Amino acid sequence: MITVGKTVPFDVSRIRSDFPILHRKVNGKDLIYFDNGATSQKPQVVIDAITEYYTNNNANIHRGVHYLSQLATTQYENARTIIQNYINAPLSQEILFTKGTTDAINLVANSLGELFSSGDEIMISAMEHHSNIVPWQMLCERKGLVLKVIPINEAGELIMSEFDNLFSPKTKLVSITHISNTLGTINPIEEIIAKTHAIGAYVMIDGAQSIQHIKVDVQALDCDFFAFSGHKVFGPTGVGILYGKKEILDKMPPYQGGGDMIAKVTFEKTTYNELPHKFEAGTPNISGGICLGTAITYLAELDLDAIHAHESELAHYAEEKLLQFDGVRIIGTAKNKTSVVSFIVNGIHPFDLGTLLDKQGIAVRTGHHCTQPLMDFYQIPGTVRASFAFYNTKEEIDVFIHAMERSLNMLR
Ligand code: ALA
Repeated sequence: MITVGKTVPFDVSRIRSDFPILHRKVNGKDLIYFDNGATSQKPQVVIDAITEYYTNNNANIHRGVHYLSQLATTQYENARTIIQNYINAPLSQEILFTKGTTDAINLVANSLGELFSSGDEIMISAMEHHSNIVPWQMLCERKGLVLKVIPINEAGELIMSEFDNLFSPKTKLVSITHISNTLGTINPIEEIIAKTHAIGAYVMIDGAQSIQHIKVDVQALDCDFFAFSGHKVFGPTGVGILYGKKEILDKMPPYQGGGDMIAKVTFEKTTYNELPHKFEAGTPNISGGICLGTAITYLAELDLDAIHAHESELAHYAEEKLLQFDGVRIIGTAKNKTSVVSFIVNGIHPFDLGTLLDKQGIAVRTGHHCTQPLMDFYQIPGTVRASFAFYNTKEEIDVFIHAMERSLNMLR
């Protein structure tokens, strides 16, 4: 069992020394990486674990009696247990390896969705990433379901009174982001889960932007499903996690057919493997799964409360400095938010600003951030988004603000 937090006191310069990429140059300048919402950088332990796996341990899992196959299987299943402990899931069978959050949401939409009937309702919110909109739209089209959308206010907070009004006896599932990738809003998921369960519907939480910032305990939350991506929690790309309650996963049909997910195959009839394998057809991203375990072990040794405080301080500092420029508008001013600072500048296209910042070694994301309906709500084409991780510093924000000043002088 992993002990979470407080084992290593938070020390940003020590942490920065764990991430080799933070010491490279981009366009002749020291890299300042403020695109953590898109993907996080990797500590040396994760990079080493990837090399170690392919150098010494590579084999297919669950398939061989030979030494390497058994070693890889043990490491992969250990990673599942590390992740189970980290999010406090009751059973390792409830931890499904996926390709990422998008894949996890598609799994639930396709599999659980098979249990819904024409006229049933799914609820999402106006701040969802496309990956928590489109799979449900596809399901609604296929099965004749109805998609309802919880509206937000100008600050980018859910309007909870509207949420209550959207419930009906036909509501089957609410799928909602824990933290908005574009606005940084932390949603009141405890309240959403309790209210949704009170009417007998399921709740899925998109945790792609939350688990790297705040502690997640799926038993305390009592969510039915929780999804996140490996690459956003300092692990590899192409691997992610779907947590689901066993009693629900047991009722759900397999999402994909193939090797590993079967108990017995004949041409007349196939029976399926038990959890978690029922949902893990084909050879998975073995190295990805093992090294996600390494990344979670790294994260588990840090003090998440200290990280949250550090990241909040960075976001407040950046917002305060940005607002000193004429024409800057912060998009996403929720009372409860994380370290995402999205902004626009009057008369300047986000892409132009992002390009000039890049020339000065600063990586930010520009555009709609896969949240086009949210951009429509604010009637803007996109934003510039600085999204911070625990390895970012106030000194980097000072350099960013100086680069902003130079860029705005060029563009105005
Ligand atoms: N969902 C990721 C982001 O917000 C890719 O940038």
